[in-house]
Amino acid sequence: MFHIIVRENYDEVSSEAFRIMKDVLKLERPVLGLATGSSPVGLYKKMIADHNTNGTSYRKAITFNLDEYIGLPKEHEQSYWTFMHENLFDSIDIPEENIHIPVGDSEDEELECRNYESALEKYRIDLQILGIGTDGHIAFNEPGTPFDSVTHIMELTEQTRSDNARFFDDEIAQVPTHAITMGLASIMRAAKIVIIATGANKADAVYGMIKGEKSTDCPASILQDHPDVTVLLDQAAAARIL
Ligand code: F6R
Repeated sequence: MFHIIVRENYDEVSSEAFRIMKDVLKLERPVLGLATGSSPVGLYKKMIADHNTNGTSYRKAITFNLDEYIGLPKEHEQSYWTFMHENLFDSIDIPEENIHIPVGDSEDEELECRNYESALEKYRIDLQILGIGTDGHIAFNEPGTPFDSVTHIMELTEQTRSDNARFFDDEIAQVPTHAITMGLASIMRAAKIVIIATGANKADAVYGMIKGEKSTDCPASILQDHPDVTVLLDQAAAARIL
């Protein structure tokens, strides 16, 4: 079930996401599913500000990130490991051993997928933060990914690589071709989901997720079957559903 909230701008959208996050952080041992990309950065800034101002602690929190590029070592400036440390983890008190991010440069990628999924199975994510791709992907589950997928290797679409080239000096050739990603079934196990989308380039994907036919052509449409999804949008991203 979708609970749709439309706000004036990105800051207000991020505040709504933070309000939901703050509630989950009251749990004894919150398990958080986290995303990279532009969409959650405002939320992470608010989490850091709250940690600094109010002392909200992440010592007992456990986190699982959605995905990682294959071929990038942790230390690479565009790895999702680096992104998460720069945008959140280095500025809060979460113990490093509580952080889970798929390893992008493991020797055996299939084994890494299985290990990641088994780590995930030991927990239930209390709150999963998502962004949405312009092609309707969630995590890196591109169109065509089966709804029953668990952590797997995904070849990224041209669309996704071109969208993400902005992080790689605008050079699509530098964007990795594959990623390890939680599957759609892995994501659906979360108790609560918040999906953040802002900007006109997300309007079609948002329409497909909420009003489109439930189909693997739009991976995010699987969320139509989840009992607790809050969709946080600005006016531009909401243009086709209002
Ligand atoms: C990131 C992820 C992706 C992004 C999506 C939107 O970990 O899994 O699904 O959420 O590509 O990216 P942005 O927010 O940069 O538009």
